[in-house]
Amino acid sequence: MAYAAFRSIGAYVPSKILSNEDLSKMVDTSDEWIFKRTGIKERRIAGKNEFTSEMAVCAAELAIKRSGINKNNIDMVVCATISPDYFCMPSTATIISTKLGLGNVTAFDISAACTGFVYILSIAKAFIESGMKKNILIIGAEKLSSITDYTDRGTCILFGDGAGAAMICATDNKEEAIIDIHTGADGTYADLLMTPNGGSGSMHDSLDQEAASCFMQMKGNETFKVAVRTLTKDVVEILETNNIDSSEIKYFIPHQANYRIIKAVGDALKLKKEQVVLTVQKYGNTSGASIPMAINDIYESGSLKSGDLMLLDAFGGGLTWGSALVPYSPLK
Ligand code: UT7
Repeated sequence: MAYAAFRSIGAYVPSKILSNEDLSKMVDTSDEWIFKRTGIKERRIAGKNEFTSEMAVCAAELAIKRSGINKNNIDMVVCATISPDYFCMPSTATIISTKLGLGNVTAFDISAACTGFVYILSIAKAFIESGMKKNILIIGAEKLSSITDYTDRGTCILFGDGAGAAMICATDNKEEAIIDIHTGADGTYADLLMTPNGGSGSMHDSLDQEAASCFMQMKGNETFKVAVRTLTKDVVEILETNNIDSSEIKYFIPHQANYRIIKAVGDALKLKKEQVVLTVQKYGNTSGASIPMAINDIYESGSLKSGDLMLLDAFGGGLTWGSALVPYSPLK
């Protein structure tokens, strides 16, 4: 049987920084409020002509190079995004694979908001274990600034842009294998976090009304409470199912939405500070890109070593959630 190994990571962040001070000149807020309530100090914003696919390609090039896999052997590309280059079609994954010069590969996007990376990891694992594919490039990429309302202080202080990518490859060595992935969704909470534009559910009569509802809307406080509850339940379940103690986790890498959410889950698991990976202070919430961007951070700091066990945990619009137990398994 083939197993799926997490071989490599790469990420890209745009150079432009949007600080809390900058935002306090745009909406009625302050650095003190934002930092105290979210842990965020600044976030990155892509240039006007810097599309989601371009950030994704930069992240993917690094992940491919670090994997040691020849790009001609990549047979599938999956992109998790809620801010694709184009809504409906073509998919961002097809644009990415063409820009990378990958030739004839299976390529598609998925929409699971901030849980997107855990969802595409589970898709890659399933395709590899079934024997259908061998080397899969997965990417979480977001230009959330393109769907953020910069007059709404409840959301614009949270979100940023960026991309992260990973190579997931077939191996026959069980020790290298992704151990388990849990995913879930509950549409009864759909209205907590949504962009009510453009789709067949849109009730607008005019294009002006339509355009006004292109942005993300969030019931932040309700979302916060469900997030803490769901994320904690999720990680407790995946650890129990696999008979793994939280002390065996080298890095807990949660979706970076809010420091207070991360702290609450970390405390519930009795994790030590050095086990919890935090990037929310410098990148804000980058939805499907946040987990691979955080993994890349520990990789580039030199802290991520072969065999380190990562616990990923995500929560987002849908509502969706997911967790994964993933050893870092670069090619030896
Ligand atoms: O990534 C996907 C999942 N998303 C999340 O997990 C996000 C979850 N939610 C959150 O992170 C938090 O709910 C927020 C950071 C969005 C808000 O923090 P909160 O502690 O839940 O604040 P709140 O919404 O309960 O608002 C408290 C007060 C309100 O004023 P009043 O009614 O008490 O007078 C808000 O109007 O803070 C006010 N407020 C602000 N004040 C200054 C809301 N946003 C701001 C702001 N600056 N940016």
